[in-house]
Amino acid sequence: MNATPSSNDFILQVEHLSMKFGGLVAIGDLSFQARRGEITALIGPNGAGKTTVFNCITGFYKPTEGMITLNKRDGSTYLLERLPNHEIPARANVARTFQNIRLFSGMTLLENLLVAQHNKLMKASGYTFLGLFGFPSYRQASAESIELARHWLDKAGLVDRADDPAGDLPYGAQRRLEIARAMCTGPELLCLDEPAAGLNPKESAALNELLMGIKSTGTSILLIEHDMSVVMQISDHVVVLEYGRKISDGNPQSVRTDPRVIAAYLGVDDEEVQEVLTEVGDEDVIEQLDTGPDPAHGPGNSASMMAGPVSDSVEHANEGERVTVSKGASKAAQVDARSASIASKPIVAPAAKKPAAKARSTKAAAKAPAAKTAGISNRLDAPRGGKADSLIRIKGIGPVNERKLNEHGIFHFDQIAAWKKADIEAAEAYLAFDGRIEREDWIGQAKALAKEAAAKPATRGGRK
Ligand SMILES: Nc1ncnc2c1ncn2[C@@H]1O[C@H](COP(=O)(O)OP(=O)(O)OP(=O)(O)O)[C@@H](O)[C@H]1O
Ligand SMILES: [Mg+2]
Repeated sequence: MNATPSSNDFILQVEHLSMKFGGLVAIGDLSFQARRGEITALIGPNGAGKTTVFNCITGFYKPTEGMITLNKRDGSTYLLERLPNHEIPARANVARTFQNIRLFSGMTLLENLLVAQHNKLMKASGYTFLGLFGFPSYRQASAESIELARHWLDKAGLVDRADDPAGDLPYGAQRRLEIARAMCTGPELLCLDEPAAGLNPKESAALNELLMGIKSTGTSILLIEHDMSVVMQISDHVVVLEYGRKISDGNPQSVRTDPRVIAAYLGVDDEEVQEVLTEVGDEDVIEQLDTGPDPAHGPGNSASMMAGPVSDSVEHANEGERVTVSKGASKAAQVDARSASIASKPIVAPAAKKPAAKARSTKAAAKAPAAKTAGISNRLDAPRGGKADSLIRIKGIGPVNERKLNEHGIFHFDQIAAWKKADIEAAEAYLAFDGRIEREDWIGQAKALAKEAAAKPATRGGRK
């Protein structure tokens, strides 16, 4: 531990972080900073490496390379990649939630929040059984713990349900309970992995309110999120990953209008970029693509922090290693290549903007549904009962892939649960997901969710 007052504006500094799993580079030379007291969002398509970044920060993985510095308010500094993982919450005051809810479902809400304060209570008992005899220091710590738990239950809008089992809460409320539990550990940095996944708009709004309340206490937040309504409304700063590399970094507005981000995040094919821009309704960006690269975001001045050029493989110069990814996989790189080719042509008057309706009809004509659905054995023409399941509850499926799956006639957990090898291969072919479906056990996850949906058919709708 050493004092570094000069870097104290930043609670977190990630420098040249790399994480490899065998030949797969999940994170490649990633650097970014999170400012104290702000909400920093980490976004990107499925498989971009967001959770892996969290796992490195919170000690679940030891990074292959790089440095992760946590600067506490008191000026003390911790190198998280060197700290034993159980010391990261206790000494560096970093707390996290997980992409899949992890609560003690049989315990009450209050008990869940008290368990989170176990360390504090153990310390007060002198790590002995004195707590059992009502030792004064333990009694006081215990009263404080209950008070803190009630405070965060109140902030999460859950105080009325303090004595109910956590498993009885609706899904959105369980998400808020997890955050309340993390706050009971007194973090300086709170890391949230997709807290809005599967929430309906009302639950999303309640989550935004809770996060803004946490920010107002001075706690810094690092947020992984696919839900753009959450990211754009509450983030101060956004870092965008694609294939483990940073492709954009800035305020929400600049990131939102970065064509590379739109292409990468929405996961569109190269020829669809313009039409997606039309769909998101950003006239300025459409014009940029028509006339050439934007100096603020184009490859000219910011290529160093962006993904590499389009190629069939991602090269890692330092190790001389090649990791194969799908051909032309990087959508951000495709936008770079496209912008560069436009820039190399003489600039003429901007082309007339395409009306949205025209772009959409082109898309419809270009994509014959029959061709897209080939290979999936149990596709449906429409969701049963007119209501699709929220497929994003399966870890590894984000809104983009949910949309793609819906386009391919997959709407329900039980459909995915019934996939055979050929279906998995067909799905991976259009999601460009080499081996991920099995690795992330989508079938197992879908089976569990299908069972849950069958048990409680009317508990919760999907986020659509
Ligand atoms: N323990 C592991 N072993 C092998 N590969 C892994 C491991 N953890 C992650 N990966 C792989 O690393 C890549 C990045 O995964 P990660 O879960 O970090 O992505 P993500 O951006 O969080 O995606 P999502 O939005 O789907 O949650 C993926 O290809 C994933 O399959
Ligand atoms: Mg993830």
